[in-house]
Amino acid sequence: MATRRVSSAEGHAALLHAIAHIEFNAINLALDCVYRFRGLAADFYTGWADVAAEEASHFGLVCERLRALGHDYGDFPAHNGLWEMTVKTAHDPLARMALVPRVLEARGLDATPPIMRKLEAIGDAETLRVLEIILRDEIGHVALGDRWFRHFCALRGVEPEATYLALIEDFDAPWPHPPLNLPARREAGFGEGELAVLGAPRQRHGGKR
Ligand SMILES: [Fe+2]
Ligand SMILES: [Fe+2]
Repeated sequence: MATRRVSSAEGHAALLHAIAHIEFNAINLALDCVYRFRGLAADFYTGWADVAAEEASHFGLVCERLRALGHDYGDFPAHNGLWEMTVKTAHDPLARMALVPRVLEARGLDATPPIMRKLEAIGDAETLRVLEIILRDEIGHVALGDRWFRHFCALRGVEPEATYLALIEDFDAPWPHPPLNLPARREAGFGEGELAVLGAPRQRHGGKR
């Protein structure tokens, strides 16, 4: 996808479109968690159903802003990373929790403040308010993923932080772009040890397995 400057009308709309597409995929991702994994505690399902409702409201809010700029969802090409990782982790709720909320949605926590600064610079206060809502809610989504990730680790008797880093390597998942949003990640449940690792350049151990 071409990266256009947010200061151009096309670049501004393309940025909002990229966010809308992530929110759209996130609705399906949360619903897939409800559907895919069977026999878990009831609050796994109610938790992800609540997330799906929040993602739908995010999608609506971003689409409203996109329409205010004279565009609509579907006007630009879109990146499918979130859905691809959803498909790759369909066999295992522990891997799903690690790689989707705890890797990909957590990257959204890091990405949002720089995007907010760009929107502030071009005077788009309305979208800024939408992103404040999204950032607040997304901390909750990562926290829900963190809680269930740690729960599945405890059930299997594996250490969460080492398991998380090994899964990132096994699935060739993306590494965070610095700087990390440390307050948001801490609130979502990340530990100081893993934040120090994630904030440093990626170390690959023996390549892909
Ligand atoms: Fe969202
Ligand atoms: Fe989310």
